[in-house]
Amino acid sequence: MTDAATLPETAAPIVKAKDVAYIRFSAPDLDAMETFVSDFGLVVAHRDDDVLLSRGLEPMPFLHVVHRGPAKFIGFAFEVDSEADLAALAASVPGCSPVHDIAGAEGRLGGGKRVHFVEPISGFVLEAVHGQQAEPLAPRRGRHTYNHAGVDDRIGVEQDVVGNRYPIKKDPGPSEVYRLGHVVAAVPPGAHQAFMTFLADTFGMLVSDSARMIIPPGAEEHFPPPLVELIKATGSDVMFQFMRMDRGAAETDHHSILVLPLMDGTPEAQFSHAAFEVFSMDDVFRGHMHFREREAEGAPYALAWGVGRHVYGSQIYDYWHDPYGHVHEHMCDGDRVDASYGPNTIDMTDPGQMGFNGGSQWGPTVEESGIDHLNGPQCDPKFANQPDEVRASLLSRDLSEVQHIVDAI
Ligand SMILES: [Fe+2]
Repeated sequence: MTDAATLPETAAPIVKAKDVAYIRFSAPDLDAMETFVSDFGLVVAHRDDDVLLSRGLEPMPFLHVVHRGPAKFIGFAFEVDSEADLAALAASVPGCSPVHDIAGAEGRLGGGKRVHFVEPISGFVLEAVHGQQAEPLAPRRGRHTYNHAGVDDRIGVEQDVVGNRYPIKKDPGPSEVYRLGHVVAAVPPGAHQAFMTFLADTFGMLVSDSARMIIPPGAEEHFPPPLVELIKATGSDVMFQFMRMDRGAAETDHHSILVLPLMDGTPEAQFSHAAFEVFSMDDVFRGHMHFREREAEGAPYALAWGVGRHVYGSQIYDYWHDPYGHVHEHMCDGDRVDASYGPNTIDMTDPGQMGFNGGSQWGPTVEESGIDHLNGPQCDPKFANQPDEVRASLLSRDLSEVQHIVDAI
């Protein structure tokens, strides 16, 4: 059922995507990005003068792509279940490429086939892939065993979660990334709702938790008037929705995509962040400490938000700006659910939920945290110091300067 306050329901999506596969950027300085992805805990799978491909431990050939070019988020990819799904997208999505073999270094790493298209609401280049193959990588460290009060799973073994018990080092080194967890976009109000509908219609995405702009009398002070007015002006009260893949009875992440309303006046859609899963809370904190040390040494990183634990999705999180301001998140212990979950409406009126504590069960408060830093690279403290052309290309969805990159996808 459809009414003015909700988004249209999807009867039959073109495909039901399996997961998100990778994110794609371009950047002027691939050396700086190679240092960043290594500090983040990704493994460089391929590097040449034109492209940097990085992966995690899971058996996927790459999770993160950076082309040499202007500073820009280009888009992201979905993994689908079959070549028939790729063909369905090619036949049904306006402007979609034909199904083709993945070419170049990306194809040599993992094979597979894909399609791509420029999604007109967001301006992002969306891709779908199938049939990529890779061997898993062995972790440098084993999984941690924890003693829980009264349930001691580690007896007679000292806990050494960073492998540096003796001697004790200031920098624990990077965490280890296992997989890509979710991608978050910040899209101008109104368009952000249309983008969510597109994701449901095209990739079968389900709503896990939906934040509605329902404000009780007396709570207005917690919701700044521009936010309220901009959402109301869209004709819907849907502020944002955590969306997941429809994998039937199989489990999937509570959210693989989140679309936020871009509330700072930036005119075009922005990459908010991508989250990469690590094994444990220790790995999240290890990454936090490593980035703090690297930043103190002069590396061009900046904390965006963390460490804390989310309410919706439950992940333990830590968010950092990369050299161009794009936010990369380490996370662990997220909720896994099947297609029977939800959809739930987030109660914006309940203290401790999304409104008053920034969606954290624990962690930095709204005042202390940088949750506003998730609107895009313009929120990076370094943004004002970037050259004019870098700032312009970061915020623009104009693809003309990267058209040769898009054409080769
Ligand atoms: Fe996140």
